[in-house]
Amino acid sequence: MIVDLTNKQGLVTGITNENSIAFGCAKQFHEANAELATTFLNAKAEPYMRPLAVQLQSPLILPCDVQKEEEIIALFAAIEKKWGKLDFLLHSMAFAPKIDLENQLLDCTKEGFLKAMDISCYSFIRLSKYAAPLMKNGGSILTMTYYGSQKAILNYNVMGVVKAGLEASVRYLAYELGPKNIRVNAISPGPIKTRAASGIPNFYEYIEAAEQRSPLHHLVDTKNVGNLAAFLASDAAIGITGQVHYIDAGYSIVG
Ligand SMILES: NC(=O)c1ccc[n+]([C@@H]2O[C@H](COP(=O)([O-])OP(=O)(O)OC[C@H]3O[C@@H](n4cnc5c(N)ncnc54)[C@H](O)[C@@H]3O)[C@@H](O)[C@H]2O)c1
Repeated sequence: MIVDLTNKQGLVTGITNENSIAFGCAKQFHEANAELATTFLNAKAEPYMRPLAVQLQSPLILPCDVQKEEEIIALFAAIEKKWGKLDFLLHSMAFAPKIDLENQLLDCTKEGFLKAMDISCYSFIRLSKYAAPLMKNGGSILTMTYYGSQKAILNYNVMGVVKAGLEASVRYLAYELGPKNIRVNAISPGPIKTRAASGIPNFYEYIEAAEQRSPLHHLVDTKNVGNLAAFLASDAAIGITGQVHYIDAGYSIVG
């Protein structure tokens, strides 16, 4: 591991189990010597997530359902109290109601659309709003997106629209926070078997296509994504902001 995050404190959201992309990232942050605050969704999720956070030696393990403003406020208050600053933030979450995710976009309900947008996109803006004042020495804000934002991909449906909004948010937040030396980037991994991915109909077809059609003919894993995230969180990534970084074995360049 050549990246060094010594003396850096980061907030990692989106760990639900050991397959979570956020956990893969957190392990690489930890290996690079960062100290991590971590969040779980709710009381039901906590028993599965907490042992992973303990493994990461996380001194702050807090609830954060991004639909609950009071939990976001309490989370950042705890970070401010503990560290007085924050160096990086990983936003790694997405949700859409099952029926709206499975239906074609034409049939997406207004309620489902707004919920997907709220949890998967607006939450990124909201967490950034709270994180930025704590990034007193500059910082790095990261989110997870997918290629379905750029191309109409079978079965990605409403989530493609939401991810397009997320990627645009990366650009606007990078523009707005650049003067504070805060970098904002998205990582766009190829398909990885996770709980969120299991909600996409016929996800195995994404896996097969990635293996067959990507120039490198292999899948990426959460450790690969974690290494990129650790680099982007580090000072070595100076000058890199507002971008979507693909880590997909090259799948997105194939016509
Ligand atoms: N798995 C893939 O193939 C893939 C590819 C590209 C991008 N991504 C993105 O990576 C991110 C992480 O997903 P994952 O694949 O690791 O799956 P995951 O199921 O492990 O993680 C999804 C996370 O979203 C969180 N979440 C859902 N609703 C929430 C809420 N209201 N408040 C706070 N957190 C909430 C869950 O608790 C969970 O931790 C998502 O943005 C996903 O779209 C995944």
